[in-house]
Amino acid sequence: MNIDEKYMRECFALALQGKGSVAPNPLVGCVVLDKLGNVVSKGYHKKYGSNHAERDALLKLKNNEAEGGTLYVNLEPCSHFGKTPPCVDLIIERKLARVVIGMKDVNPLVDGISKLKSAGIEVDFVLTSEAEYLNRVFIKNMSQKLPYVVLKTASTMDGKIASHTGDSKWITSSEAREEVYRMRREFDCIMTSSNTVIADNPTMEHRFKCILDKDLRTDKNAKIYKQGEIYIASKENTPLKDGRLDLKAVLSELYKKGIYSVFVECGGMLAGTLIKEGLVDEIYQFIAPKILNDNSGLSCFNGDNVSKIADCKRFEIQEFKKIGTDMLIVYRTRV
Ligand SMILES: NC(=O)c1ccc[n+]([C@@H]2O[C@H](COP(=O)([O-])OP(=O)(O)OC[C@H]3O[C@@H](n4cnc5c(N)ncnc54)[C@H](OP(=O)(O)O)[C@@H]3O)[C@@H](O)[C@H]2O)c1
Repeated sequence: MNIDEKYMRECFALALQGKGSVAPNPLVGCVVLDKLGNVVSKGYHKKYGSNHAERDALLKLKNNEAEGGTLYVNLEPCSHFGKTPPCVDLIIERKLARVVIGMKDVNPLVDGISKLKSAGIEVDFVLTSEAEYLNRVFIKNMSQKLPYVVLKTASTMDGKIASHTGDSKWITSSEAREEVYRMRREFDCIMTSSNTVIADNPTMEHRFKCILDKDLRTDKNAKIYKQGEIYIASKENTPLKDGRLDLKAVLSELYKKGIYSVFVECGGMLAGTLIKEGLVDEIYQFIAPKILNDNSGLSCFNGDNVSKIADCKRFEIQEFKKIGTDMLIVYRTRV
């Protein structure tokens, strides 16, 4: 690992300290070296509306130890007045010689790179795809005005989520189910369907839950309604597409409500439509080492008839690990 990568990875770790408090802003960390290469300050964006990482780091310096030094930051420094003044102005004022950036900002208002270069500051990039993955929620929010969508499935090795009788408990181990409870907390909202509420009567404990229920078929005494804020998407408040709720319209409505990330827990029908419509950013697939071998069992993706393998939706494996007796595979949409 070279020096630039080392300090950029440190920026990522600092940035992650803001997770859960900065949305809809990005996760940003910053490391400042003096002209001899010694670390003289570090900072990160702590919460929405607070100082950006570069400002947090530079304002900690009493004398100008940063003069002639290098500043590492995982996102292009801002050049516009938002909730705080432009970071590029402070970097120029503090006479940094070099700025190493992870990724360009997708916010069209930001043009920090040209401003830094015009001031004679050398600008380099490092670990761009890692920096983009770190801020995947921010990038999706900014560029599409939609929440980041993660679909969770838990299936047997032959891709089944229930037998033909509807029996679905339990496919995965208690450790995998604990991991799902932990994962839920990382998202602004859980989304599920009328069918899943009717079949499983889950609680899905969370501060905000979205239930897709076109004809309001779910029982309001179901466990899911007993806790958290609930948004029911039905034909009363959502346009229809092919006779079903328009899922993109639901996501867009959630975004307007300040929901920046969604964790979907559903059966094959909804999962299949979300995939078909290209609305999923990542899949967390738990696979239990079991084979149901029931042709009429429910599949985790229940789509249309597709004739060619070339028409597969494609993903990249981001990560895999064993949890309890099961495997968790994290897939990212291939662009
Ligand atoms: N293993 C797992 O990870 C997991 C997780 C959850 C559930 N499950 C299992 O999944 C089974 C239910 O699966 P399922 O396939 O019947 O149901 P599903 O995929 O959970 O939900 C389908 C329902 O979602 C609603 N929906 C609204 N808009 C939609 C759209 N645009 N496209 C598709 N659906 C839309 C529809 O109901 P409306 O017409 O009422 O809106 C539709 O009938 C249950 O047995 C449950 O145990 C498994």
